[in-house]
Amino acid sequence: MDSILVKGGAELHGEIPIAGAKNACLTLMPATLLADEPLTLTNVPRLSDIATMTQLLQSLGVEVTSLQDGRVVAMSSQSADNPVADYNIVRKMRASNLVLGPLLARHGHAVVSMPGGCAIGARPMDLHIHGLEAMGAKIELKDGYLHAEVPGGLKGAQIELRFASVGATENILMAATLAKGTTVIKNAAREPEIIDLATCLRAMGAQIEGEASGTITIQGVDQLHGATHPVIADRIELGTYMLAPVIAGGEVELIGGRIELVNAFCEKLDQAGVSITETKKGIKVARKNGRIKAVDIKTEVFPGFPTDLQAQMMALLCTADGTSVLEETIFENRFMHAPELMRMGAQISVQGGTATVTGVERLKGAPVMATDLRASVSLILAGLAAEGETVVSRVYHLDRGYEHVVRKFNGIGANIERIKN
Ligand code: EPU
Repeated sequence: MDSILVKGGAELHGEIPIAGAKNACLTLMPATLLADEPLTLTNVPRLSDIATMTQLLQSLGVEVTSLQDGRVVAMSSQSADNPVADYNIVRKMRASNLVLGPLLARHGHAVVSMPGGCAIGARPMDLHIHGLEAMGAKIELKDGYLHAEVPGGLKGAQIELRFASVGATENILMAATLAKGTTVIKNAAREPEIIDLATCLRAMGAQIEGEASGTITIQGVDQLHGATHPVIADRIELGTYMLAPVIAGGEVELIGGRIELVNAFCEKLDQAGVSITETKKGIKVARKNGRIKAVDIKTEVFPGFPTDLQAQMMALLCTADGTSVLEETIFENRFMHAPELMRMGAQISVQGGTATVTGVERLKGAPVMATDLRASVSLILAGLAAEGETVVSRVYHLDRGYEHVVRKFNGIGANIERIKN
């Protein structure tokens, strides 16, 4: 398994282009199952998770063509006739469960392997299932697979989510576009990826309103048609690279970044003493003179502070002046990076969903192990600020969500190398 060697200490200057959003693309791709005509996505990030979704869709009979070096993905579901999402693909990536709603809407039945737990939490699917059941589906778990069927077709329903789940909102929203009648999803997720999905579905002919408000109303239509849709910028990649010059010193411009995608995150950086300015091309971030100040963080659904930036923020706060309290409210086990950061000299104590971080002057390089995607990149960020060398192992997690990570960091003057094993 490859690892990444980070030599700390270099100041960072330059530009980083922000890619299309992984989590938007992973829900936009299954939307192709809702129409026979082609759906073409542009600004697609080149990631192993996108390759896994491509493989899954192909196994369902979707024709997927990758163009412009993977930046454009053209999909046609005209001859997609397999409603079974196999365990061997689903187990690689939880987001595979996003084919459930579209398959059910297309075929009237679907068999989708239940994804297992993952490093950050158990992540059940009850909200997806209850939502689709409210629309008339019968869903049973047999041999590790969800067997779903809706003989008379999906019917519009009033659905109130117990929690504003991103995935459940996406599955229900996609299914509802082809249901008979009106569906209302209350307490729906409002993440930018949901807005992007609704925009794409509307371009395909769906009738959707209110996706930014938390109550989404969908008027089902008989069929959707083809469309071309540009994937929104990746707000988590943006936030991650915004932290690089803050941790290591310097000034970096994030091309294509927009503050409204990362407002809550920017507020915390502002409190910590970071300079953020909007430019014509994106966002410029610089570390002001002196040490970063400690700030408290609580992860929340959008528009709150994103859980997907918690690990990276913790890496920053490890060298802040003072003590920060980080509360993780979305996933029950998302502090796996803390013991790894402690191997680098960080002072962190974790109790349940709360981590207390007391800043030290400087971290020290060490061999560390990545446990999930965001944890991996937080260890690279920590390595940039550390004295000496850090070797991050198990970097296959990184390939899932950060395209050309070594090239992007080195492009702003970092000293990072991938070591092939
Ligand atoms: N939950 C339930 N029941 C459900 C669905 C969710 O209890 O039926 C719980 C989960 O266990 C979790 C919480 O609700 O504790 C949030 O889950 P949600 O469904 O909102 O998350 P998701 O759709 O599984 C997406 C992103 C994650 C991101 C979360 C939260 C994709 C492919 N994944 O996951 O991204 O952390 O929303 O914003 O969109 C990442 O990119 O590193 C990543 C983990």
